[in-house]
Amino acid sequence: MCGIIGYVGESDALPILTDGLKNLEYRGYDSAGIALRDGEGDSLDVYKRAGEIDALREHLPESSGSTTGVGHTRWSTHGEPTDANAHPHADESGEVAVVHNGIIENYDELKSELEERGHQFLSETDTEVVPHLVEEELDDGYDLPDAVERVADRLEGSFALGVVSTDFDGLVAIRQDSPLVVGIGDEANFIASDVTAFIEHTRNVCYPEDGDVVTVTADEVSFRHDGEVVERPVDEVEWEAEAAEKGGYDHYMLKEIHEQPQALRQTISGRLDEMAGDVDLDIDLPEEYVASVEEIQIVACGTSYHAGLYAKRLLEEFADVRVNVEVASEYEFTGGRDPWRTLVFAVTQSGETADTLSAMRAASRAGARTLAVTNTVGSTAAREADHALYIRAGPEIGVAATKTFSSQVATLSMLSVYFGRQRGSLSVDRAQTLLEHIRGLPGAIQQLLDQENAIREIAGEYADGDAFFFVGRYLGTPVALEGALKLKEIAYVHAEGFAAGELKHGPLALVTPETPVLAVLTEGARPDETLNNVKEVESRGAPVVGFSSYERGEKYLDTVVGVPELGLLEPLVANAGMQLFAYYVADGMGRAIDKPRNLAKSVTVE
Ligand code: G6P
Repeated sequence: MCGIIGYVGESDALPILTDGLKNLEYRGYDSAGIALRDGEGDSLDVYKRAGEIDALREHLPESSGSTTGVGHTRWSTHGEPTDANAHPHADESGEVAVVHNGIIENYDELKSELEERGHQFLSETDTEVVPHLVEEELDDGYDLPDAVERVADRLEGSFALGVVSTDFDGLVAIRQDSPLVVGIGDEANFIASDVTAFIEHTRNVCYPEDGDVVTVTADEVSFRHDGEVVERPVDEVEWEAEAAEKGGYDHYMLKEIHEQPQALRQTISGRLDEMAGDVDLDIDLPEEYVASVEEIQIVACGTSYHAGLYAKRLLEEFADVRVNVEVASEYEFTGGRDPWRTLVFAVTQSGETADTLSAMRAASRAGARTLAVTNTVGSTAAREADHALYIRAGPEIGVAATKTFSSQVATLSMLSVYFGRQRGSLSVDRAQTLLEHIRGLPGAIQQLLDQENAIREIAGEYADGDAFFFVGRYLGTPVALEGALKLKEIAYVHAEGFAAGELKHGPLALVTPETPVLAVLTEGARPDETLNNVKEVESRGAPVVGFSSYERGEKYLDTVVGVPELGLLEPLVANAGMQLFAYYVADGMGRAIDKPRNLAKSVTVE
């Protein structure tokens, strides 16, 4: 949802910014731009274009004499993806240029005010008010850091801003509810929406607080908050730059599907204690509190929501606690529940999804304790929640989430052991069985991925279906929903996931010989009952692909993808097969798999 980058150093800023933007492209890719401050500070050169970074590159010089600049890749909110609406936006004097991620909610009123004072606007964006406001502050004699701070005070909404001006030898950044990370290198300092933008240059990072004025020059980064100079801790990013590269695969998505066994090893590493039938998750929830929790609410969006649905079933089964899962944008912490006995999990890969953050904040305001389950160290969710638990899947670049779903479900499975054991509702024996299955996940998913060629052929055979239906029961239901979501996201075909038992209550009317049905027929997905629903669709002529460990039922299936035995985690293993199915259907159609139309990986607006 828009990516920003800024660089100040000793080298040519142009290739550093364009390469950085390329790494941020998963956040939005409908237009891109760069502003460079020339060495003497005489002018700012702004290049911007509708389309992807590669379209912008065609309009860029080979090199620049500049060592300071900002860049932006856009996911449109206000105004269509046109050259004029692309960032950076400048004031009319061309002395200030701004990149922005977020939404400025009061831009209309600020714009009218500025127009009355004679400013002229060239775009339909909310962002363009910022350079004009900064220009006024500079004209009033403030320096750039002060000017940006004063302007930020007037903005409502969410923003991460990177600002350059001719008369300041560096850049200034500020955030409010939008992601911003600072990279500290050797005579090369950065700001960006995400560390992937500059990981090739430095792994030392700081996470500014909301309202921090970040002043970046070639040899220094300083933070100021409410007029006081403050220090922010420097962390080291644990993963290597190569983790965010394609590594020989055609698409990040395919690479990330194949990374699942390794990602899962990281997820569970050092956390399982099979002997004791327990887990070590290093979350400091007080024992009495865990015992007294009456309800767990899970808030999440998209794929993370499906991981939440999987977790609900496991937590209810093992931890004897009521669990409600809500799409974050629909969540309201209404009265009637006891906030002190309610624990809210915010499940979010990025830790920056605006809907999820806003649900988490609502829960917090009402007095509930919050736990962020996230992939992103230093993310807003991790910092704002009372507790954070990392899924440790490594960077995920493909817009469609794959390995992080598996790691989320594995982490939430460990959490259900934790709650079950702490609350005395899960016996050591049962816990050991579940832990054994969690331990077996990397190997089982590998076995599934080894069937890639067969799945590619199945995808080819069924790719021209009119629509695709995914069905499962119990733990198979979230996987059916997730299987359909992958196909929608990357192949742009009509796909829907259903609880198999619901088919006969409506969706069956849609089933024809042209609508392949993909079914989860494994342990944990009530295969006996699901098979009855499979027979119902087959008798209406629909071809059925079963992701199955259920040998008795396989004679009823047109096509079988074998799922190794893994108890209640078999549906999760089946999901890896559905990911490959979606990938190969989309690939056969020549879709932009890593950057599906209209979508962005991290949606930082509500
Ligand atoms: C976007 C992405 C989805 C993702 C969802 C939630 O819509 O395109 O792939 O599942 O956001 O993201 P989160 O980072 O909160 O898990």
